[in-house]
Parts: sequence; structure tokens; C-alpha cells
Amino acid sequence: MTFKPAKWPRKLRSQEWFGGSSKDAIYHRSWMKNQGLPADLLDGRPVVGICNTWSELTPCNAHLRDLAEKVKFGIYEAGGFPVEFPVFSPAESSLRPTAMMYRNLCAMDVEEAIRGMSMDGVVLLAGCDKTTPALLMGAASVDLPAIVVSGGPMLNGMFRGERVGSGTHLWKFSEAVRAGEMTAEEFVEAEASMSRSPGSCNTMGTASTMASMAEALGMALSGNAAIPAVDSRRRVMAHLTGRRIVQMVKDDLKPSDVMTKQAFENAIRTNAAIGGSTNAVIHLLAMAGRTKGVDLTLDDWDRLGRDVPTIVNLMPSGKYLMEEFFYAGGLPVVIKRLGEAGLLHKDALTVSGGSMWDEVKHVKNWNEDVILPVEKALTQSGGIAVLRGN
Ligand code: FES
Repeated sequence: MTFKPAKWPRKLRSQEWFGGSSKDAIYHRSWMKNQGLPADLLDGRPVVGICNTWSELTPCNAHLRDLAEKVKFGIYEAGGFPVEFPVFSPAESSLRPTAMMYRNLCAMDVEEAIRGMSMDGVVLLAGCDKTTPALLMGAASVDLPAIVVSGGPMLNGMFRGERVGSGTHLWKFSEAVRAGEMTAEEFVEAEASMSRSPGSCNTMGTASTMASMAEALGMALSGNAAIPAVDSRRRVMAHLTGRRIVQMVKDDLKPSDVMTKQAFENAIRTNAAIGGSTNAVIHLLAMAGRTKGVDLTLDDWDRLGRDVPTIVNLMPSGKYLMEEFFYAGGLPVVIKRLGEAGLLHKDALTVSGGSMWDEVKHVKNWNEDVILPVEKALTQSGGIAVLRGN
């Protein structure tokens, strides 16, 4: 951890648009003022973009405008000026032929919006699978201060007394119908029980994995990954993130300070410990490719992740869902376990301005059936083994 905060006050990037009395400055300020802005909002204070993947066609992110309002509160409180902007929102559940084809389109949208617009830092509002890596890729390329707020997972699905995991049970019920163990009418009835609140998938699927990767990389405040979308503490997280980004702009704390090789190594080990999605391999390699000088390869996944035990008992590998993971203490407990096992770069810098270990060392595990002791791990080598051949 070698970060040294920049001097404050100083002239910020947004003043290239809004500062002074030239024709161009008046042009930029005048048009912004059509939104009813008091003049002092453009006086040189941090202008913070809120990059929003909200869309009603991406149901996992349909609540993000509400969260954006909380981010704005935090930015105003800390003396910044928030400006929300939309970007393309790839929806895993409905985008054809597959959302994976559009991750890079979203990343390019994010990158060019940040680079081309008058902002000094950015809050990244993500949720559904591809949105988190896409936003981090775009932000890493521009390298202005950036921080992630996840939309959070849905509440547990429940059907006839049984926990129902997004995706996981869709296949299970479909097979049950084919086997004659469930009627088609019951299958339709289960549909609303599967997705009963705003938020992303409630299993440790790609969305929760990537929210966990953002946190393990140090690009979100500690605890961000697991708070359910509808829990009031998700709104608190958004509010606090708004406050934090203003200080990050003043300090000039950028993705290149946080997304280091050490941070990626922490993320790879965390992915093994949570039993995260294999899609994380593709996304982390792409994200590393957008950073300044982090050389991450498939061999790193094999070397670092292979022998890490999977201790998070969540579907699709295990029994519980994200709601229970949050109640058990969430990702900080897992990262602390890695630290205790000598599998964490404890001094990796996070967006908090402190070390990863400082963020997690005090946390407790409140449910050892959800976050398992190492001797009861779901599997002792939960990492990704890289196989080559034809
Ligand atoms: Fe959006 Fe799973 S479909 S998070």
C-alpha cells in the first residue's frame, strides 16, 4: 500500500468545461443550468458521475434509479455535485442471442461516456451479470476515481416451504415437469416465487460473484456484495459510497491505485472460497487488460485458486442463498478467513483509502453452516483448474 493522497484544493478536470469566463465555459455552464442548478455547483467542487445501468428491461437493475438518489445525497453532503447518466444495460435474463456478446459494448459506452464528459470521478451502479465487469472495464480504461455500488441480490425465493434459487430451480423444476413429478401449472405457480423482490439473482451466480469480485478487488466499500437489494442497509451503502467518492476525487485515488496485481490475486482466491462463477475468469482477465500494467493470465487462476477450499455454502454448489450469506456476515468474513490462512495480500489498497485487512479484521461469522469452517469446506480445492488440450 503506497498510496499518497493528492493535495487539496486543486483545479479539477471538470473545470476544463465549467471554469473561467471564456465563451466555451459559458456555453457549458449555461446549458447545464437549464436543469435549474445554482451557480455554485459548478464552482470547482468535485463533479461526480453516477453511471447507471438502470433499465426496466434489465429487471435485476430496475431499482437502480432509486439507489442513485441515495448516492446523490451522499455526494451533496460531502460537497460534490452529482450527475447521473445512463449507459447500455445488458440483461442476462432477456438479451438475445446472449448478454455475453454485449459486455464489451457496455464497457465501451462506459469508457467513452466517462472520458468525453465533464466529470472528476464516477460511481458505478451495477447489478446483473455483465454490468459489473463492463463498468469496471470502462472505468479502469479512463482511470478517474471510481467506486462500485451493487444493486444487491433478490430476497430468497420460496416455494411451498423450499428455498428457490434463481436459475438453479428453473432447471430443477423443468426437469421435474419432464419427469412427471411436477405439473405444468405448478411450474407456472413457482415462477413468481422465484423472483419475489427487486435485485439480481439470489444464488452465487455470476452477478453475486462479480459483486464479490468488485469488493475483493477493493473497488467497493466493504460489505457491498451481499446486502439484499431491498434491505435498508443497501440504501445506506449507496449513501456512504456517495460520500466516499467525493473524498476519493480530492485524494485522486484511482482504479490504477486499487486494481493492482495483488488485488486481482486476492479476487482469484476469493472466487475459489465463495465457489464463484467460472465466468469470473473471463471477466477478470478482461478487466486486468484494461488496467495499467496488470499482467493476469489463465495460469494465475490455476496457480492461485486451485487449492483454496470453498467455504461458502450457497447454491448452485451448496444449500443457501445470498440473503443468508448477508446474515452470516457476507464477503468480509470470507476475506478475513483468507487472511488468517495466509492467502490474502492484507495490505492491498481499497477505495476506503485503507488496507483490505483493516476492512475485514474485526468481522465475525454469525452462521457456520453458511460460511463453513475450513475442515467442513464444500470442497478442499474449490478453485479453477485450467485444463488445456483439444
Ligand atoms: Fe440478472 Fe441473474 S439474470 S443477475
